[in-house]
Amino acid sequence: MSTHIAAKEGQIAECVLLPGDPLRAKFIAENFLENAECYNQVRGMYGYTGTYKGKRVSVQGTGMGQPSISIYVNELFQFYGVQKAIRIGTCGAVDEKVKIGEVILAMSACTDSCMLNQRFGSLHYAPTADFGLLKSAYDNAQKLNISTMVGSVASSDLFYDENNNWKLWKSYGVKGIEMESAELFTLAAKFNRKALAILTVSDNIVTGEASSAEERQKTFTNMMKIALETAVEN
Ligand code: HPA
Repeated sequence: MSTHIAAKEGQIAECVLLPGDPLRAKFIAENFLENAECYNQVRGMYGYTGTYKGKRVSVQGTGMGQPSISIYVNELFQFYGVQKAIRIGTCGAVDEKVKIGEVILAMSACTDSCMLNQRFGSLHYAPTADFGLLKSAYDNAQKLNISTMVGSVASSDLFYDENNNWKLWKSYGVKGIEMESAELFTLAAKFNRKALAILTVSDNIVTGEASSAEERQKTFTNMMKIALETAVEN
């Protein structure tokens, strides 16, 4: 039991999938895992453990934004011995050619957050995904015939960003804007664990296009297949 997670020792698997939305965690447990048991309901941030292809996998909601994911990932790494953490979320694309529903595998995550400054002062740390998980996710996507883009994303503290910082990120090759991966990758490095973020494009920031409920469902399934195959393989 930790401050925000009510699980007992041993109730959480070594590999945890991390959706931002706790109801997504519930949906995944009910639709993709076998024998799933809920281990956390504190603050409605559901966490479940079940099996996929016979291997234990957990799925834990993280909430939105880096301070929120930081709390859950810190506790998973420090108190529950979690070794692999795979964020499954959405992002906004910054290239008008990128379609809703495309899957981005985040190799690295820039950020505008001062969370990194608090740790590193004037030094600029580069939050990076685990290469093994990234390669495995890429290979699994290919096997499943799901196309992916691999590259950097930016984890912003501002969903409603009046400065349009995405334009600068875009000019340096960033593929999508979301709000959590930089802190996840940084904590994985700190605790010597493995992390990856698999992101579905839910909206295009340039064109204003947003996904329909039907698109969200279909593309979500693609992301889940990649994430679960990767979770049980590593
Ligand atoms: N900005 C930040 N986070 C997001 C977005 C966005 O446009 N889309 C999905 N997550």
